[in-house]
Amino acid sequence: MPQVIINDELMEAMEGEMVLDIARRHGAHIGFACDGRGFCQTCECRVLQGAEELCPPNHIEQRVFNPEALEHGYRLACQAAVCGSGTAQVLTRAEELRRLAAMVVAPPAGTTAGYNLGRVLRSMGVLVAERAMRVPAVLPMILPQLRAMPPHFPGIKNYVNDTKRVLQRTLKDKPNIPT
Ligand code: FES
Repeated sequence: MPQVIINDELMEAMEGEMVLDIARRHGAHIGFACDGRGFCQTCECRVLQGAEELCPPNHIEQRVFNPEALEHGYRLACQAAVCGSGTAQVLTRAEELRRLAAMVVAPPAGTTAGYNLGRVLRSMGVLVAERAMRVPAVLPMILPQLRAMPPHFPGIKNYVNDTKRVLQRTLKDKPNIPT
């Protein structure tokens, strides 16, 4: 059975399953503002290992990410399906930011809160700039994606429940602070 390590936690997966669905099922720290329609980018993640265990980036990811970002393993978890039977490892952008923010609150040895705050602000700045540059590519996808996946009541209910589960776990988990 394939497996995916999301934010350092090993999770069972099914072939063909989207990384976002695996993360939501386990309450992993990830965003999914557009509910998997491929345009909000809050599910962005980086594949650290086992990229070959995921299907290649689809047309949506190829519009959202430039070739360099794809080369560095950036994916949309809602578009990245499990294709292999091995283990892939991903770190979500949401968790990456959470870990950086945790280093401001409790600076690891050899760093200061001020230095780490600078890193957080730089990361946020990069994120905002990246998102702004992607707007022209993403805007034309919104209507077709809403037509392809119209909102429906059970989906909204799952969305609310999954959001609660992710929030509860994220607030409960101790921050994983690299030393
Ligand atoms: S959940 Fe919105 S782009 Fe993936």
